[in-house]
Amino acid sequence: MSDKISIRAGMKQALSKLSKPIYEDYSYKIACRLYQEKVWNEAQVIGITVSKPPEPDTYQIIRKAWEAGKQVAVPKCHSRDKQLTFRTLTEFSQLESVFFGLYEPREEMTNEVIADRLDLVIVPGLAFSTDGFRIGFGGGYYDRFLSRYSGNTLSLAFNEQIMDELPAEDHDIPVQCIITPDRILKIR
Ligand SMILES: Nc1ncnc2c1ncn2[C@@H]1O[C@H](COP(=O)(O)OP(=O)(O)OP(=O)(O)O)[C@@H](O)[C@H]1O
Ligand SMILES: [Mg+2]
Repeated sequence: MSDKISIRAGMKQALSKLSKPIYEDYSYKIACRLYQEKVWNEAQVIGITVSKPPEPDTYQIIRKAWEAGKQVAVPKCHSRDKQLTFRTLTEFSQLESVFFGLYEPREEMTNEVIADRLDLVIVPGLAFSTDGFRIGFGGGYYDRFLSRYSGNTLSLAFNEQIMDELPAEDHDIPVQCIITPDRILKIR
């Protein structure tokens, strides 16, 4: 547990050193790799976070999904029970700033998409291991969500975010695939 805290802090520090040109270059390369993937091309409904630097940019991926006629659903965190729900997003103006500068869908402008309808969920994280384990931002929101989700999962990461090993707890659920600017790790 304390390991996770120090890994989060170290990773935030390392990622804060990425310059804007490098951040854009890596994010673009990750996105281009994603568009070659069968799970992306076959997915009609995609669950995806609205990125906040230093996470790889997802705005360009959301635009690409809209252009391809896919339905985009973005997460909303419910702090009371630490649950995550996904809601439709058809334009960026449907987002509002909540805590920590995160953007979430406005409830009055969007509709809930139940987990069963999501063909692919792009799972955020700070650090990833080559066997698909993940250290997120510490809320356990995605672990709770993934425990009742059986569709496809995938994460986007800069090379700097991949580690040989990570401490995992019983509730941690690995992702099926990790895409970096240089490679694709297929976990199963
Ligand atoms: N399925 C679950 N049921 C109950 N509690 C859970 C579950 N998953 C995670 N938690 C709790 O959430 C807390 C945070 O978990 P963890 O440190 O793994 O977060 P994280 O993976 O960084 O966050 P996230 O999943 O949002 O990316 C832990 O205290 C853990 O016990
Ligand atoms: Mg976890």
